[in-house]
Amino acid sequence: MKVICTEKSQILATQVARALKTTVVDVRYSRFPDGELYLIAGEIDDEMVIIGSVVDSDSLVQLMLLVDACDRATNRLILPYMAYARQDKQFKAGEPVSSRVVARALSQGVSEVITVNIHEKGVLGSFTVPAQNLSLAKDIGSYIKTLRLNNPLILAPDEGAITFAEQVASVGGWEYDHLEKTRLNGVDVKMAPRQLSAKSRSVVIVDDIISTGGTIATAAGMLYRQGAKDVFTACVHGVFTGGAYTHLMATGIRDVVCSDTIERSCSRISAADQIANAIRKH
Ligand code: R5P
Repeated sequence: MKVICTEKSQILATQVARALKTTVVDVRYSRFPDGELYLIAGEIDDEMVIIGSVVDSDSLVQLMLLVDACDRATNRLILPYMAYARQDKQFKAGEPVSSRVVARALSQGVSEVITVNIHEKGVLGSFTVPAQNLSLAKDIGSYIKTLRLNNPLILAPDEGAITFAEQVASVGGWEYDHLEKTRLNGVDVKMAPRQLSAKSRSVVIVDDIISTGGTIATAAGMLYRQGAKDVFTACVHGVFTGGAYTHLMATGIRDVVCSDTIERSCSRISAADQIANAIRKH
């Protein structure tokens, strides 16, 4: 078995290979003069683990090219982050179900797919090969433990993320809650924990994705006004679009961390062990 990866997942793939005591295939990536993506892979094994986060259209195409370059092997595809998963239904007439398009395209040439905290688990059913999802909730909990916070409050940004917050909190036996939005008038909205008070407490807001950071930045500002001592945030997928990281830091958030499903300099949580364990089990 060997590991091979796209440009966006080089560090994670190397760690997975290390955990599996195998090697990463050397791949040279470049572009044709017209901008088309090109790659040439080194020696392929009969059994390949292909790792590539889809963060944009180029990384999707590169991953498809990589799978084709491994077409003589039995391929397992690891999708640490899957862009387009949030468009998982037709919200308005005329829209595509983008998650279905990507899932079908990435099912070609692989025998199974493993995702990490996919935004909506229903998307797994759109792959035409068996697909399973891993969760880094416990790994985020272990990271929070290293912060040595006194009695932290783990907060989900909305009710939909409460199970995730519960799993994170279970690592340290911490209290958890979710933020609730109350419309005060036509303009103002208040965000506060639904049941617990943030006053004088360290709060950690946890989520699967931080994209624009808008929700968490607004929440952090309000939590400080409600007397929170410190606000931290941790997510699985650090998309950080439109200056989200600096926007969050500007609100006074003490620390913003993510995992390496999207490789960032603030990726302090790794999906490598979980991915390696899932591969070993199959
Ligand atoms: C939404 O359902 C997701 O779980 C995230 O809460 C959302 O994608 C975050 O978006 P943003 O960072 O743009 O507020």
